[in-house]
Amino acid sequence: MLGAGVIGGGWAARFLLAGSDVQLFDPSPTAAQAVVTTLEKARRSWRRLTLAPLPAEGSLTLVDTVEAAVTGVDLVQESAPEREALKISLLAQAAEAAPPHAIIATSTSGLLPSRLADGMRGPERFIVGHPFNPVYLLPLVEIVAADRTSPEFVERAAAMYRAVAMKPLVVRREVDGFIADRLLEALWREALWLVADDVATVEEIDDAIRFGAGLRWSAMGTFLTYRLAGGDAGMRHFMAQFGPALALPWTHLMDVPVLDQALLDKLVAQSDAQAGGRSIAELERIRDDCLVAVLRGLAGEGFAAGEVVARTERELYERAGARSDGSAAADGRLRLHEVLAAPEWIDYNGHMTESRYLEVLADTTDAFLRRIGILGPYIDAGRSYYTVETHIRHLGEVHAGDRLSVTTRLLGHDEKRLHLFHEMRRAQDDAPVATGEHMLLHVDRAAGTTTPAAPEILAVLEQIAESQAELPWPEAAGSQVRGPRLRAA
Ligand SMILES: NC(=O)c1ccc[n+]([C@@H]2O[C@H](COP(=O)([O-])OP(=O)(O)OC[C@H]3O[C@@H](n4cnc5c(N)ncnc54)[C@H](O)[C@@H]3O)[C@@H](O)[C@H]2O)c1
Repeated sequence: MLGAGVIGGGWAARFLLAGSDVQLFDPSPTAAQAVVTTLEKARRSWRRLTLAPLPAEGSLTLVDTVEAAVTGVDLVQESAPEREALKISLLAQAAEAAPPHAIIATSTSGLLPSRLADGMRGPERFIVGHPFNPVYLLPLVEIVAADRTSPEFVERAAAMYRAVAMKPLVVRREVDGFIADRLLEALWREALWLVADDVATVEEIDDAIRFGAGLRWSAMGTFLTYRLAGGDAGMRHFMAQFGPALALPWTHLMDVPVLDQALLDKLVAQSDAQAGGRSIAELERIRDDCLVAVLRGLAGEGFAAGEVVARTERELYERAGARSDGSAAADGRLRLHEVLAAPEWIDYNGHMTESRYLEVLADTTDAFLRRIGILGPYIDAGRSYYTVETHIRHLGEVHAGDRLSVTTRLLGHDEKRLHLFHEMRRAQDDAPVATGEHMLLHVDRAAGTTTPAAPEILAVLEQIAESQAELPWPEAAGSQVRGPRLRAA
């Protein structure tokens, strides 16, 4: 990797988390620290994005020369400042030293690749791989070939980006600004005019996006949105209805407001007011957490960027072998259930609503029952355990994306009864957030009565009880709802 700023650091984090080794060159003395900080942000986001087992992280090596960065690599990703002359000479230097099979990619936001490849050795290997900030979370990468790029390298680059959980979009031909930045620039131009003309503040413009179209864009883009706006008659009807409006002089189109001191001062003052004293780091955390929430939501639908997340999760599970049954013991306790707090679990107080605590605990009880053999044939034969009593203590707040991990104690059992104690913790700080104590009875569903569990089930329970015999009795077990007896006035 060449360059470790906002984008280069994001690339490094994405590849490292996907298990690739990274050799990085950046002349700035602060680059190393910046990458470490970005990697930390990326780890946090991925822990919140998926429970799928990520591969062991790749190794990061900071090197002193361009040559050392590109030696022996499969991909050179250049993310130096957006200056054409600098990029041309840096890319040429990299292409001299990189292996012939290595893809040479630039992150440029809009410079024409055929100009950047000027004088490069092996120009058939050169592509634009244009990512979006934060690179470790947003899946899109635009691939643009230069005039001498070979299609084989375009395909290889697409496969390589796909392997690090991205959505490669091959741009059909070389144009300034590619696809995404041309669209974004149109919006940006108009937004600047609206501020310059005092039609709206920067905050009002952001609200106009994020409370409306912005939400829709993440799933439907612009063309699917307008197809739906046309009703049953679709796009033809939409164009008939709204096409003529394009002739109205609504926008400034190609004009740009004069970026004089007064406009710059206004933009900066409004932007500072909008940030409300929150630091860049705080705003980045809000951005990343919200992006994770959107991606997680879309993953559930398997739509748009959610398709990439769902595909990546499938691949991660396949690569890690069969999904672990989670029954590995943690100091005698069983660790049976892990889950990410979903955005829809959050209530008006901003944290996980009460019923979801029970849901997570009940899912843990189900995992325990599977662990002891209460599975298909046993249940089909009409036998199961029913929960007859539950006591939950709420100890801490859970926010969207928090990873929850539950451990389980078997406090007691006999032929018909099971007494379980679950402890739910927030993975990021290991803070306890809830305990659940549950009494279950073994039943014969057809007869509608309690009945002894089968000997093979009781044998497993005996084993678990023995493995937990040394654990101290949980202080909270057997507790009741505390506090004074309240009387009606
Ligand atoms: N910021 C974005 O949102 C964004 C999005 C997509 C693409 N890009 C593109 O990515 C590239 C990098 O942008 P950025 O925002 O990360 O900029 P940045 O200023 O944050 O980082 C540039 C880094 O390059 C380093 N650098 C300077 N000269 C170098 C050299 N000769 N060799 C190696 N490294 C060198 C700098 O020290 C710095 O760390 C640009 O081409 C930009 O257009 C930016």
